[in-house]
Amino acid sequence: MSAMDKHREERARQFRRLTECGPDSDMGKLLRKFWQPIELSENVELDSAIPVKALGEELTLYRGASGKLHLVGGRCAHRRTLLHTGWVVGEEIRCIYHGWQFDATGACVNRPAEKDTGMPRTKIPGYPVREYQGLVFAYLGEGEAPEFDLPRKPLTEREGVVIANGMERWDNNWFQQVENSMDAVHVSFVHMALTVGPFGKAVTTSIPELSYEETSAGIRQTARRSENNVRQSDWTFPNNNHITVPGLTPEDPWLDVFVWMLPNDELNTTRFMIYSLPPEASEASKMRFRSYFAKYGKYDPAAHHDELFRSRVWKNPEDTFVGLTAAQDYLSIRGQERITKREDEMLGRSDAGIVMLRRIFFRELDLIREGQEVKQWKSLEQPVVLPTQPGAEEEGESVKAPTSMAQT
Ligand code: FES
Ligand SMILES: [Fe+2]
Repeated sequence: MSAMDKHREERARQFRRLTECGPDSDMGKLLRKFWQPIELSENVELDSAIPVKALGEELTLYRGASGKLHLVGGRCAHRRTLLHTGWVVGEEIRCIYHGWQFDATGACVNRPAEKDTGMPRTKIPGYPVREYQGLVFAYLGEGEAPEFDLPRKPLTEREGVVIANGMERWDNNWFQQVENSMDAVHVSFVHMALTVGPFGKAVTTSIPELSYEETSAGIRQTARRSENNVRQSDWTFPNNNHITVPGLTPEDPWLDVFVWMLPNDELNTTRFMIYSLPPEASEASKMRFRSYFAKYGKYDPAAHHDELFRSRVWKNPEDTFVGLTAAQDYLSIRGQERITKREDEMLGRSDAGIVMLRRIFFRELDLIREGQEVKQWKSLEQPVVLPTQPGAEEEGESVKAPTSMAQT
């Protein structure tokens, strides 16, 4: 093998550390230090169970008779059949195969065919869960769960906000999507490619000067297009982005959007969204928001893979918001392959955000590998002010290029 091939192979080996997520990998251990969204609340009915895959682990999510959600391992401890195919009994779950029953901590509490031989000491996993604004979050780490603190929680908790959720199951590695959040240049191209809708209209083709700085919560991105056109956004470690986007019509206020990229496994990623319409929105605006999401909120570009890659034409002209933006991002991100070959890239100056992102991750992964304390990330005391509707709360500044939006 030539020296160049060896070098390439070594780079590939390093980059692989960024894309893993299983419990034994450094990245898997790092990601398990954070609450992660794993499902939409509405998908788990009372007294029923569904399978969930998160961070490479098969899991069973079920809603007990009390309405409370519980999360345990995906397979029965006896002979490993899938637990979600069984029955929910009170707050416990019973296996379909021979009736072993497990409580919410994963302890076996009943083995009907074993008479009085006692219970096995080994448990299946059991994890804390909580529901928040339509999403189900879980803590898959060891020991006590950290405080449930999401970036800018208060924004979505204001009296009178209207919330909608999104969930898209993309068939590519999660880290490509995280990198896309640190890529302000893509907005000027990807989201202009089909120049329609509020997204296309609100971005400009002028390419910003970019700078990045590490904060207590993640990375602050500054995109400067001119003296009075400077936009900042705060990305939250390890896999959350908060952006603002124009409303459905020019009369509607801008929306806050929170996006998480959950690795289901190395080749699949679920994007979870909270869309939040501010309380000051008019009744007409709230109605528009609700009916739009009822009609178009379930679009998933991955379900249209072949059609999108073949035609690159947006066939749904009425939906120029969620669906169009997702389709545009999907074409560029999924187009990099399911796991992109970073060892073959050629980065430029404008990729400074991606370089910083990777450097931070590598630093944290090294700490994990050495068994040391990782950085204690915490919410920003002073997050940057994100763009709002032109004229709404602006002081004479032009809002032509909200670069912090659409970087999803
Ligand atoms: S496999 Fe579950 S009880 Fe036997
Ligand atoms: Fe994008």
